[in-house]
Amino acid sequence: MHDHFAKTAKIVGLGSYLPERILTNRELEAMVETSDEWIRTRTGIRERRVVAEDEALVDLVVRAGRAALTDAGVEPEDVDLLILATATVEQPIPATAAIVQPMLGLVNAACFDLSAACSGFTYSLNVARQFIATGEAETILVVGAECLTRYVDWTDRSTCVLFGDGAGAVVLKPGTPGEGILHVRWRTDGNYADIISMPGGGSRFPPHSIESIDKRLPYIKMRGNETFKVAVRSLTEISREVIDAAGIGVEDIDLFIPHQANMRIIQAVGNRLGLSEEQVFTNVERVGNTSAASIPLAMVDARNEGRLKPGSLLLTSAFGGGLTWASSLIRM
Ligand code: ACO
Repeated sequence: MHDHFAKTAKIVGLGSYLPERILTNRELEAMVETSDEWIRTRTGIRERRVVAEDEALVDLVVRAGRAALTDAGVEPEDVDLLILATATVEQPIPATAAIVQPMLGLVNAACFDLSAACSGFTYSLNVARQFIATGEAETILVVGAECLTRYVDWTDRSTCVLFGDGAGAVVLKPGTPGEGILHVRWRTDGNYADIISMPGGGSRFPPHSIESIDKRLPYIKMRGNETFKVAVRSLTEISREVIDAAGIGVEDIDLFIPHQANMRIIQAVGNRLGLSEEQVFTNVERVGNTSAASIPLAMVDARNEGRLKPGSLLLTSAFGGGLTWASSLIRM
């Protein structure tokens, strides 16, 4: 192996931001025909966060990004690269990563957005580690952030109860073999592109087109039941691939942080992998499905609860629109 590839990417800082406004299941009862009991038993979700009227994606990214830089003790000018994983950009042009660059003071960083729905953060980790491994970058900020509630159809009870807003970020620097991001596997299957989608708002049906407005196209659509089955299968498979690639046993994993989409999916995957309840982290109860923000948000919560520590072996697995799915094994 070339010398450069002996470098791993180590997480040296974490940060997150959640909007203040809490939307409870009880409040949703007044908006659509649903019940707190249905939402809790089918999804595990009790509440989610919603951006304020004057907030948008940039506000979330800047707060989480700053928190991660401070946590890492890294100066903004030392960041070489910003990768922003999101499906809910500030505006189509330019990339949201470019808009936040001056706000974060990342004067020396190349900045771009990465679109892989709920797998976006894990995809970004895989991209970031290549640049650190080759020596192309020394310090990388990866942010996963979403304003999903801006794209939720508040008349569709099968989706509007699921999603929330938030942002999480990590700072990566070169580490020595055995620490940092040890293994990543990622996959895409566009044959399932239509099971989770927002069919309007792009070049086929621009947001201002009559069709977009008449057919309510720029909203998140999901075939929940189908998604559920593929999610359990693909998350289990890709997690096993990473565990096997690392040559470890499930008992070696200190913490499993899966994408926080639905408690039942998380439990089914945990059971299939043979993980104990103590090994599996969830915060879906409090934040709902925050797509690309989900895993870094959960990492911050896990650290605050004392469940993610320096040296912990962390397995993360994500699944989302695309379809995309990905898993990573990280020595913190
Ligand atoms: N309140 C009350 N009833 C509801 C609600 C609601 N909020 N939503 C749906 N129902 C009803 C349905 O209409 C249906 O009624 P019917 O039997 O009379 O037709 C019944 O509940 C059952 O519906 P299902 O869709 O079969 O319910 P299911 O148990 O599958 O739960 C859910 C639905 C929670 C959406 C589940 O399928 C799920 O979590 N799917 C996966 C979602 C996911 O993981 N997404 C990840 C990717 S998201 C991304 O990438 C952005």
